Amino acid sequence: MCQITEKDTKKKVLSCIQPSGMLTLGNYLGALKNWVSMQEEFDCTYAVADLHAITVRQEPAKLRSQIYSTFAIMLALGLDPEKNTMFIQSHVPEHAQLAWLLSCYTQFGEMSRMTQFKDKSAKHADNINVGLFAYPALMAADILLYKPDFVPVGADQKQHLEIARDIAVRFNNIYGDVFTVPEPYIPKTGARVMSLQDPSKKMSKSDENVNSWVAILDSKDDIIRKFKRAVTDSETVVRYSQDKPGISNLLGIYSAVTGKSNEQIEREFEGKGYGDFKLAVGEAVADELAPIKAAYDKIISDKGELERLYRLGADKAERVARKTYFKAMKKVGFVL
Ligand code: TYM
Repeated sequence: MCQITEKDTKKKVLSCIQPSGMLTLGNYLGALKNWVSMQEEFDCTYAVADLHAITVRQEPAKLRSQIYSTFAIMLALGLDPEKNTMFIQSHVPEHAQLAWLLSCYTQFGEMSRMTQFKDKSAKHADNINVGLFAYPALMAADILLYKPDFVPVGADQKQHLEIARDIAVRFNNIYGDVFTVPEPYIPKTGARVMSLQDPSKKMSKSDENVNSWVAILDSKDDIIRKFKRAVTDSETVVRYSQDKPGISNLLGIYSAVTGKSNEQIEREFEGKGYGDFKLAVGEAVADELAPIKAAYDKIISDKGELERLYRLGADKAERVARKTYFKAMKKVGFVL
């Protein structure tokens, strides 16, 4: 007799993160914080998207250590490897295989509209490779293999998620109900954390100016120093406004970390200067990240356990991925 388990009735969640450098406060507030909060209610699958990382040139030893470190951060956040499926993307070959299939159902024109492709090809003009262009098909494969209902991401990934949805709908229209069409799950605050040095740009681990971003593993002193140096404006009022991008970014960060509304924060800092405000934001962020760093230092020192956990995750992931992949292949007409 077939028994329905709790896992079967829970809605599904999937998300991934690239191991391309230090993970930042932007990654944390835009996505990872939700990954953690969703693990209780949902059946969650989370992966280190290492295949995506080579769309820009990586130094092999550095890439390897970043893959370990990203997986260790996922554990340090408190994500439970028994309850969730947590793995490294390249360990499950169906991701690359389905990406090929899906790329044949994706139009050149729609890929060309991707803003990330335009930004990254401007930044890496000497290496505009086909992988960088086809990246959203791989991301669509990551998602569609696991039939998630929700995909927790920051606002910058919304466009990629829309193309994944379009591909799923297109495929289903031809072949029947193969893929689930997922919804993005974007936080109300922290969805777009901006650079501390240039608030018109997204906070990014690839920014050469280290003062522009806060790493999840930064020390308390470094975090506070970076916030003290954050670019603001010539006014002295802590107030949310489109004309005050630096202060508004800090407000958004403080709000995402403390759960306070903009109005509450404006009241809290009424009559106080930017110095007090920046220090408060720095301290709140440092306090939020401190337990993650402490847990990380322990986890990263036990490579054996780390390996046991990512192998366990890959086995679990592969069982799900294989089913969806073969179903899609069969529908298209391959001999299995
Ligand atoms: P990646 O690795 O650049 O970022 C991981 C997550 O962090 C979010 N994020 C931010 N959120 C708010 N403010 C910021 N400054 C900020 N910077 C990054 C991103 O939105 C993302 O949610 N293509 C993806 C990885 C990926 C993926 C997937 C995601 C591969 N396959 C399948 C979801 C589902 C990426 O490059 O994210």
